[in-house]
Amino acid sequence: MKTPKGLQPLIDDGVIDEVLRSLKSGKEATVYVVRSGTQVRCAKVYKDMGQRSFQKRTQYQEGRKVRGSRQMRAMSKSTRFGRKEQEAAWKNAEVDALYQLVAAGVRVPQPYGYFNDVLIMELVTDADGYPAPRLGEVDLSPVIAREYHGFLMRQIVRMLSVGLIHGDLSEFNVLVGPDGPVIIDLPQAVNAAGNNGAFAMLERDVNNIRATLGRFAPELLTTEFAREMWALFEQGELRADSQLTGLFAREETATDPNSVMLVIDDAREEAIRRQLGRDE
Ligand SMILES: Nc1ncnc2c1ncn2[C@@H]1O[C@H](COP(=O)(O)OP(=O)(O)O)[C@@H](O)[C@H]1O
Ligand SMILES: [Mg+2]
Repeated sequence: MKTPKGLQPLIDDGVIDEVLRSLKSGKEATVYVVRSGTQVRCAKVYKDMGQRSFQKRTQYQEGRKVRGSRQMRAMSKSTRFGRKEQEAAWKNAEVDALYQLVAAGVRVPQPYGYFNDVLIMELVTDADGYPAPRLGEVDLSPVIAREYHGFLMRQIVRMLSVGLIHGDLSEFNVLVGPDGPVIIDLPQAVNAAGNNGAFAMLERDVNNIRATLGRFAPELLTTEFAREMWALFEQGELRADSQLTGLFAREETATDPNSVMLVIDDAREEAIRRQLGRDE
């Protein structure tokens, strides 16, 4: 096909040799199938964001480490420089997350670098070499649905064990390869420890997968993995291979931490009053 504008610099620099075809154009990015030497790969060309997505993205970027305080200050403002910095940080975040997740043993596309706003990565295919379908597009037996669910919960645990939450995980962002699910689309990956919305995003990710696979294996719909993994994460006890049950006993943890704090505060206040000799 005719080389799209965004990919010409990569051809000029010899990063890729040819653009074979366009795979999908969404509002955030356009994905192409490209050839590098003898390898067929995937190129994700990010679009510049509009004002609305600019605001929406701030919630994901909270708590992310950025290069310097100058960038940090700039990013917090909606100035042109701030916007440019934020935009660059957003586009970079996906390739960073992919390298980090591959290293952590999470099944994501192997990245091959990031050039001129373009991410080059492994093309995930089906058994015949065609681009893999999305999780929402396949029919599954109950047995396979349970297997994929277990696998994806372990993948989410693995991600969380290195401090990351996908943030937009759903049947649209999981591909089904011959060896099972592959998680894609990570520019919004969230820093679990630094983001106030982290648990809500984790819960949404986990429950989206539960809903999709629960269509084929309804017993999955009663599982409670998000709370269980979050509790371990918060206690600093979540490991890459932590075994979860999916049965989160709300009763056991019904002790509201705030109520504990109130009791402590009451006790402390009482002690202070006593010391001051004004115990009324
Ligand atoms: N590495 C990949 N291998 C195969 N197909 C891919 C790959 N990455 C993306 N795609 C396809 O392109 C679509 C859009 O990519 P995605 O990363 O989800 O971006 P967005 O949803 O922001 O447009 C995916 O739903 C999938 O069908
Ligand atoms: Mg997507």
